[in-house]
Amino acid sequence: MSLLPILEYPDAALRKTAAPVAVERFADPAFQRLLDDMFQTMYEAPGIGLASTQVDVFERFMVIDVTETRDQPLVFVNPTIRERSSDLRVHTEGCLSIPGVFADVTRADGILVEAFDRHGARFELGVDGLLATCVQHELDHLDGKLFIDYLSPLKRDRALKKLEKLRKSRE
Ligand code: NI
Repeated sequence: MSLLPILEYPDAALRKTAAPVAVERFADPAFQRLLDDMFQTMYEAPGIGLASTQVDVFERFMVIDVTETRDQPLVFVNPTIRERSSDLRVHTEGCLSIPGVFADVTRADGILVEAFDRHGARFELGVDGLLATCVQHELDHLDGKLFIDYLSPLKRDRALKKLEKLRKSRE
């Protein structure tokens, strides 16, 4: 396994829409290796989710593990959200592509997601809480959308200034 470089804002690639994963890909050892590398990259970062577009791959899939014990890896290939609860949940989100920046985002508290697992088996999963937030955040990445897009212009400005400052202090 190997660590993959994570693209950082404002890399234009983060704005690309990923295309569906083709059926043949499931049997491709390179695809399986890529998923393993994404998990390793996510755990190492550390983060709770990583979407393909963040590692410069434009196929619709993402890896997630929101557990503290880091032992419940989930793969979502070609995911779609079938239902969203009207109940909302506010979570202070961050993103491995926008390191050091955190802001409150409101999303559906519960969702029903349909996807394929890493071997091509279709599944449906009802999730809520942090996992629901994470699935929605990662799915947005596949459509070129970032959590800062939900912020008011003022808050986004503040977040991006913070990012700039953090980058300067890292140099
Ligand atoms: Ni993210």
